[in-house]
Amino acid sequence: MKYFNIAIDGPAGAGKSTIARKIAEKLGFIYVDTGAMYRAMALYFLRNHINADHQEEIEASCQNVNITIEYRNNEQCVILNGENVNGLIRTEEVGKMASATSIYRSVRLKLVQLQQELAKKSNVVMDGRDIGTYVLPDADLKIYLTASAKTRAMRRWLELKDKGVQADIEEIEKDIIERDHRDMTREFAPLKQAEDAIYLDSSDLTIEEVVDKIMEYYYDKVKVSN
Ligand code: DC
Repeated sequence: MKYFNIAIDGPAGAGKSTIARKIAEKLGFIYVDTGAMYRAMALYFLRNHINADHQEEIEASCQNVNITIEYRNNEQCVILNGENVNGLIRTEEVGKMASATSIYRSVRLKLVQLQQELAKKSNVVMDGRDIGTYVLPDADLKIYLTASAKTRAMRRWLELKDKGVQADIEEIEKDIIERDHRDMTREFAPLKQAEDAIYLDSSDLTIEEVVDKIMEYYYDKVKVSN
């Protein structure tokens, strides 16, 4: 059986995970957050004091990392060497480390295989940076979701404020631009829009408006293929 795969790619803070989760819920698909897998790898490197610039050490230690995914109450849990690390990977430190270490081929290949296996056995909404271009080049629907760096910084700032964390919005924007640059210019499977992806700028749209648009694209695709 061929499953329906939706790929959502885009830069940090574009709203991918919120949107992808909602689409998956509406369609009864599985949501696969690939960023969480890179974050779990990054957590391993941080815990073991492995420097992101030390390619050989990173590549060698990949053999000691086992990442799997489990679904508990419809929520994706990332299991790092037997431990559910969901509660530990959402920090700025881990995000930066994930961006810095996801440039390495051996890190990526380890996770890409797992992502492809998940898409082979279920209908999925998968979000990340290279899903439409590299992981699932034959995905049935591809979205490139973006927003201006200013908007993304503002969203992140509000998120932190809600959690009672004070942050400097200009600092956040600088970090976002830096992360975009690294994700877009790495040699292996960089972030870019797939030729057959639909470009969607969420800067002036609400979450519901973005979800509605993607649902329309989905129904158009299903209509065409039936
Ligand atoms: O989406 P996120 O912020 O959780 O991702 C963290 C980092 O992981 C991101 O800066 C780049 C990397 N990543 C990647 O290289 N490829 C993916 N498919 C997903 C994330």
